Amino acid sequence: MTGAMNNRAQLAKDLEAFPVRWKPGQRMSELTSLAVGGPADVVVIEDPQCLPDVGHFFRSKGIPWRLLGGGSNLLVRDEGLRSIALQLAPERNGVRFDGPRVEISAAASLGAAVTRCAKNNLGGIAGLVGVPGTVGGALHMNAGAYGTQIGEFVKAVKVFRGSTGEIEVLKPEGIRFEYRQTSFAADDIMLSVTLELIERPYERIVERIKQCNQKRRASQPISEKSAGCIFKNPPGYSTGKMIDDLGMKGLRVGGAMISDRHANFIVNRQEATASDIFRLMDVMRERVGKSFGVELEEEVIVWRESP
Ligand code: EPU
Repeated sequence: MTGAMNNRAQLAKDLEAFPVRWKPGQRMSELTSLAVGGPADVVVIEDPQCLPDVGHFFRSKGIPWRLLGGGSNLLVRDEGLRSIALQLAPERNGVRFDGPRVEISAAASLGAAVTRCAKNNLGGIAGLVGVPGTVGGALHMNAGAYGTQIGEFVKAVKVFRGSTGEIEVLKPEGIRFEYRQTSFAADDIMLSVTLELIERPYERIVERIKQCNQKRRASQPISEKSAGCIFKNPPGYSTGKMIDDLGMKGLRVGGAMISDRHANFIVNRQEATASDIFRLMDVMRERVGKSFGVELEEEVIVWRESP
């Protein structure tokens, strides 16, 4: 805790001036799909228009914050967070159509947004249907699956810039989308994205959605607690195949295990801790480095700040 955060009762009181909900001491294990991580004070933003004021308030008090999206690609340390975790409240009317364009609020579920678009005969992003998490999270790291990356469809992004405290609308020329990374800063908070999709009959899109779901079910441990792929694929290599070839499927550290379905997934089998997962990741990195001469880079976002 920083000095400014010692008085949490005062902080809770100060936050009453904003359209936010104060949820102190939330266990990150309950807010992440990997189900590990210690406590954090969460502030749920009910109205994103207040972000400039809330950002200004935190800055003036010297209170650090981080953005928590859907928690589906996040690994948080067991000791928890000293910064506030900001979270956008889900928006009920999070999708607006305008011809082939659709504006989706960042807090919307990505899978649900893909389905809503399909119902409006808009396709192109069916590959993303099974990617868990929010649209904002997907955008932040240019989520991709089955040959589709969200960045390819972006026409505009409304974002709150942590660095300037302003809300800006960015055109795609102003954003770099690469494999599982973008030019957005860690303290940029996505508010909404406008995508330009491909007009297609609903039935065709649904066919593609079914295909992708089938492939995913067959190759990934979708019903287990995980954060998706733990490492990126180094250029020219498949991380899952390398770890599998090393015979490491099923390897355990404490309650964490390398999935027996896909070797680039760590699953939380029995009340794993974040430390179990960090240790298992170290083993994976070391063995792959030694045998294949490649350095694995984390795909999962790790919050490992010190207290
Ligand atoms: N393979 C194995 N053993 C394994 C896993 C994979 O031999 O345990 C082989 C497969 O048979 C295949 C190759 O490795 O020949 C590639 O595997 P897969 O098609 O499952 O794709 P991937 O490269 O492992 C990537 C993304 C996934 C995404 C899928 C489908 C990364 C790190 N992973 O996986 O994304 O869902 O393609 O498009 O880019 C994620 O982002 O969290 C994620 C899981």
